[in-house]
Amino acid sequence: MNKVKGLKSKDLLGLKDLAVEEISLILETARSMKEVISRPIPKVPTLLGKHLVTLFYEPSTRTRTSFNLAAKVLSANVTNVALSSSSVSKGETLIDTVKNLEVMGTDCLIIRHGLGGAPHLAARHTRASIINAGDGFNEHPTQGLLDIFTMLDKKKSVAGKKALIVGDIAHSRVARSNIWGLTKLGAHVTVVGPPTLIPAGIEQLGVKVSYDLDAELKDADFINMLRIQRERMAKSFFPSLEEYSELFGLNAERMRRAKKDVIVMHPGPINRGVELTSEVADGPYNVILDQVTNGVAVRAAILFLLLGGKTRRNHRAVSAK
Ligand code: CP
Repeated sequence: MNKVKGLKSKDLLGLKDLAVEEISLILETARSMKEVISRPIPKVPTLLGKHLVTLFYEPSTRTRTSFNLAAKVLSANVTNVALSSSSVSKGETLIDTVKNLEVMGTDCLIIRHGLGGAPHLAARHTRASIINAGDGFNEHPTQGLLDIFTMLDKKKSVAGKKALIVGDIAHSRVARSNIWGLTKLGAHVTVVGPPTLIPAGIEQLGVKVSYDLDAELKDADFINMLRIQRERMAKSFFPSLEEYSELFGLNAERMRRAKKDVIVMHPGPINRGVELTSEVADGPYNVILDQVTNGVAVRAAILFLLLGGKTRRNHRAVSAK
C-alpha cells in the first residue's frame, strides 16, 4: 500500500471522499494517539494555539464530548456553540455563522447538522477546516472510522471478513460511513433490516441486502446494530417496536446461533430492548464502550492530521472575499 504523508483535503467530510491510504493513515495515527491518551498525563502540546469550535445543530453526547477531550489532549482550545443561545436561533444562516466564527480566529469547525451536505457547503465558504460530525442521512465519518478502528483492534483485519449492518439503514449516516470505509478496506458488507428501512439502490454501494437476520448471523464476524431513529421517522416504518425487535433485535437466544468470536457493535445511544437486549448490550460479545473509548483517539488523530503544523493561512483560499 502507498504511504501518504497527510490528508489531501483541509476538511474531513466523509469516507466516500477518502482514499484507502488516507483511511489507513488516520487509523495508524489513532493507534499512536491511543498510546498518548494512556499516559499518566495525557497531554501533548501539538495543537497549542489552535482554536476549535463545535457547532452542533443536533444533540450529541459521544461525538461532541470526545472531540472536546481529544482537543484537550492535543492542547487546543475548544468553544462549544450552544445553538439555543446563539444567533442561529435568530435565523442566521450556516454560511454567515461559519464566516463569522472563522474571522474570530477559528482553525477548525466541527459541524453536526440535520441536512445532508451542510458541512460540505460550510467547507466551501471558509478557509478553516470543517469536520463532519454527522450530516442528515449522509455520513458520520468519525463514527465510521472509530468503528473500523475497533474492528481492527479485535480482529487485526477487516479484509475478507463479513460485516452485518443491521436495522435502520435508511436514516443512518453511520451505515453509509461504515459501508464506504469497510468496502474500501475489502470487507464483505451485508445490510439487514425490514424492506421499509433499506433504501432502494443501496446495492450500488457494493453491499448485499438481506431481510433475514437469522440467515446472515451465523457466519458474521462483525454485527453493527443501528439505532432506530424515531426522531427522523414522520411515519411508522414497521408495525411495532416489539415486532421489529423480534425480527431484527439481538437477544441471548439469537446470539447462541452466531460465531463464538463475533463482535457486536452499536454507535449509541442504544434503545435497550429494541436493537439489543441488555443481556447482549452488556454481554461478552459487545465492544460498545470500546467504540466510545476509541472515539477519542480517532478524533485526536483527525485533528492532528488536519491541523498539526498548519496555520489557517496555509489552507487553500476559498471564498474569504
Ligand atoms: N454515535 C453518536 O454519534 O453518538 P452521539 O449522538 O451521542 O454523538
